Amino acid sequence: MSQCNLGEPWRVQMNADIAAAAKEHPEIEVIFKDAQNDTLKQRAHVEELASAKVDVLFVSPKEAQPLTEPIGKAFDAGIPVLVLDRAVLGERYTTFIGADNKKIGRAAGEWIKKVLGGKGKVVELKGLMTSTPGQDRSAGFREAIAGSEIEIAFEADMKWLEPEARKEMDSALARLPKIDLVYAHNDPGAHGAYLAARAAGREKEMKFVGIDALPHEGVSYVEQGILDATFQYPTGGREAVETALRILKGEPVPKTITLGSRRFTKEDVKKGGEIIE
Ligand code: FRU
Repeated sequence: MSQCNLGEPWRVQMNADIAAAAKEHPEIEVIFKDAQNDTLKQRAHVEELASAKVDVLFVSPKEAQPLTEPIGKAFDAGIPVLVLDRAVLGERYTTFIGADNKKIGRAAGEWIKKVLGGKGKVVELKGLMTSTPGQDRSAGFREAIAGSEIEIAFEADMKWLEPEARKEMDSALARLPKIDLVYAHNDPGAHGAYLAARAAGREKEMKFVGIDALPHEGVSYVEQGILDATFQYPTGGREAVETALRILKGEPVPKTITLGSRRFTKEDVKKGGEIIE
């Protein structure tokens, strides 16, 4: 399992989900590699695991383009490759497992349009734009608000990182006298923005929306009233192990496994959120 980083709680959860599912099957052993958010290191990990001829290779790539070639090479060499959450270019892998980020972005946009009554100034703090979830969460959101009077008054790439989001939000606050809502592509980003707004004494002026909805992170922020909404982004760890087992038994597996999502707001957090259609 080549994980792009373990600095973010969502990735710690993904590895934990993989480990827990694997534990139910003593015949499989999982080797975990952490690239520490370094693309070159992750490329080396993928090459290393491929030359060790693992039976199945899991990769959650940091960036699409630079990981495409090493993943494709492993796949061409006959190793089944499961790409998790962030996609690569082309089709040289066995199965992609992840939620539909465009749909999540669209659902966020629809909800934002509703709570803002179709108009207002929004700050968009984007995930790493060389990774597919960042691109899709932005595209889906923009699709949903198109034609409304919602204006993206400030946008920046916070690279999925809370400290970066906080820094970018400082700039947004300095530039904009009025902000209605912050749409961050993940919960650490939304939390970073909230901290920046609070430090400026302006957190009550605006709403905060994130994505991931880990129980101990985003969902808890909604319960505490820090975030107004978060959209669940399941890790797919268990599905990855189940798919690997099917491959090892020689069963056919689909090219894409799309995971569902839920929306958590103050109103529905207690009943486990609302399913996104
Ligand atoms: C963790 C993370 C999540 C986000 C996902 C997108 O590294 O930034 O917060 O949902 O990656 O790939």
